[in-house]
Amino acid sequence: MKVIVAKNYEELSDIAAKQIVELVSEKPQAILGLATGSTPEGMYKRLVELYNENKVDFSKTKSFNLDEYKGLKGEHPQSYRYFMNTKLFDHINIDKANTYVPNGTAENIEEECLAYDERITAAGGIDLQVLGIGNNGHIGFNEPSDFLYMGTHLTDLTEDTINANSRFFDSKDEVPTQAITMGLGGIMKAKRILLLASGEKKAPIIAKLVEGKISTKIPASILQVHSDVVVIVNEAAASLLKKNSIRNIESISL
Ligand code: F6R
Repeated sequence: MKVIVAKNYEELSDIAAKQIVELVSEKPQAILGLATGSTPEGMYKRLVELYNENKVDFSKTKSFNLDEYKGLKGEHPQSYRYFMNTKLFDHINIDKANTYVPNGTAENIEEECLAYDERITAAGGIDLQVLGIGNNGHIGFNEPSDFLYMGTHLTDLTEDTINANSRFFDSKDEVPTQAITMGLGGIMKAKRILLLASGEKKAPIIAKLVEGKISTKIPASILQVHSDVVVIVNEAAASLLKKNSIRNIESISL
């Protein structure tokens, strides 16, 4: 696991966006795995800027999002489809037909989950998976538990996650209690993983992710066994890391 400490959120967003631009420039038909939440918002904003400066062409790129709330239609302002459209897809030249987000209102959720994984496999697998991390160590909506799931599945959200995500809704009661999420197997199959974290609140979980033991109680800790994970944090999120866990960005060939 490589850890890059950016000076601030802007730099973190810039480094992450440039990773995507570099990949798409080398491989225009790249398959991106995308996340929602507050953390990657700056990266999406930066990607739109770089697109407007003609630095990147997404016309052949496909994307698969990690997760979607159960019961929310794509037009719902808190749905992850809506988030992706408004923060990124509406502003770049990706073909929306090539952007996939699990369908939270599918009649048969089990079929939707199987079809989602099959679609990823048929596309050739994810080249670069972007992840945020929950304060409780979740990635996607793989919540701490005795068991972890390989494939895309329906999951109950923990109280922690419902509380954390209630900031986006008018009241906590409106936060869906279930979501469809890619499983740990799907995430681990990505060729490269970029995990982003910003702010002091994320410092304890970042320390556990990088320096702690691998445990299903910290789902993100399984990333320690992936051969190409880059953790990009700002100084606040890195504040509880031991010095020797951090590698200088100059010394890393990304
Ligand atoms: C979102 C997702 C979640 C978030 C995590 C952190 O698609 O999969 O795992 O990445 O909850 O969210 P923020 O960035 O809002 O702190």
